[in-house]
Amino acid sequence: MNDIIERIDAAVADAVRQAAAATSSADLEAVRVAYLGRNGLFPALSRGMGEVPPEQRRTAGQRFNTGRAEIQEALDAAGRRIAAGADAAGAIDLTLPGRRLPAGHKHPISRVADECVAIFGRMGFVAVEGPEIEDIYHNFDALNTPADHPSRDPQDTFYFPDGRILRSQTSPVQIRVMESHEPPIRIVAPGRVFRRDTPDATHGMNFHQIEGLSIDRGVSMADLKSVLQTFAREMFGEKVRIRLRPHFFPFTEPSVEYDFSCVVCGGKGCGVCKHSGYIEIAGAGMVDPAVLANVGYDPRVWSGYAFGLGIERLAMLRYRIPDLRLLYENDVRFLEQF
Ligand code: PHE
Repeated sequence: MNDIIERIDAAVADAVRQAAAATSSADLEAVRVAYLGRNGLFPALSRGMGEVPPEQRRTAGQRFNTGRAEIQEALDAAGRRIAAGADAAGAIDLTLPGRRLPAGHKHPISRVADECVAIFGRMGFVAVEGPEIEDIYHNFDALNTPADHPSRDPQDTFYFPDGRILRSQTSPVQIRVMESHEPPIRIVAPGRVFRRDTPDATHGMNFHQIEGLSIDRGVSMADLKSVLQTFAREMFGEKVRIRLRPHFFPFTEPSVEYDFSCVVCGGKGCGVCKHSGYIEIAGAGMVDPAVLANVGYDPRVWSGYAFGLGIERLAMLRYRIPDLRLLYENDVRFLEQF
């Protein structure tokens, strides 16, 4: 009799000590299995009850039950202790610096476009927008573009089956504004344009322009020149020089191309400016009287100039981006730099 009670007492003492020493729930589970598990010590003791003389069985049975309850209690207590410890380890440490969420920001194209709008805004130009899906009339006909002009070719311009197109330039916005407003006019129109170019470091199938249009009485080429010169300085600083080269556009006469001195090498010549010292930034010119007539303006009263700047070009110069395609890949490692 004493024999079995002693064995129960010893097993309970061992189990309680081991439970108290357990530092993880895995430890604790091992203790439970060793004492209360199917093949553990307590079920074995229970099987040994059969050998206890019948008159002592009652006492032994009671001790067996209280012993098992003591072990269970010790396991429960240890379980609560371990759970509380895990909580403490995972608790908020108020002394840690906060975690910064990465903030989104404007794409470099949008930033440069906004900057252009702001600069021209200070010179009195109002920002407007036009549709990206255009009709032939606004994109070509009203802009005095001859029927056989190469830019109309489906090799160059994206056509929809219904004959509409993705605008190949922001110049149709000139027409839309003049159709719906009386002169004087002073607007800029930033936006996306589309051309069937093979993408490379300086060309894409879509890119962005900012169109400018100023119509008033007695507007001259000198006004155009000063506006673009002021723009260049506001954008790239006092040192930048501009250069005009004679050119042809169907909707301006005379027409010019505007180059800015290369802001990367200062005009000495480098890979970015293809060793010419200058980078082509804009097409511009005096609005052709035929265009004014198309929108019902009297060319004897009104004159004006228009320009179209390439936003990607400006962004590449502004941020020294060597390849235009980087602007469209949306690689966060690239975009994060702005
Ligand atoms: N639309 C012309 C182009 O895409 C640029 C331009 C705009 C030229 C306005 C003259 C006047 O190349």
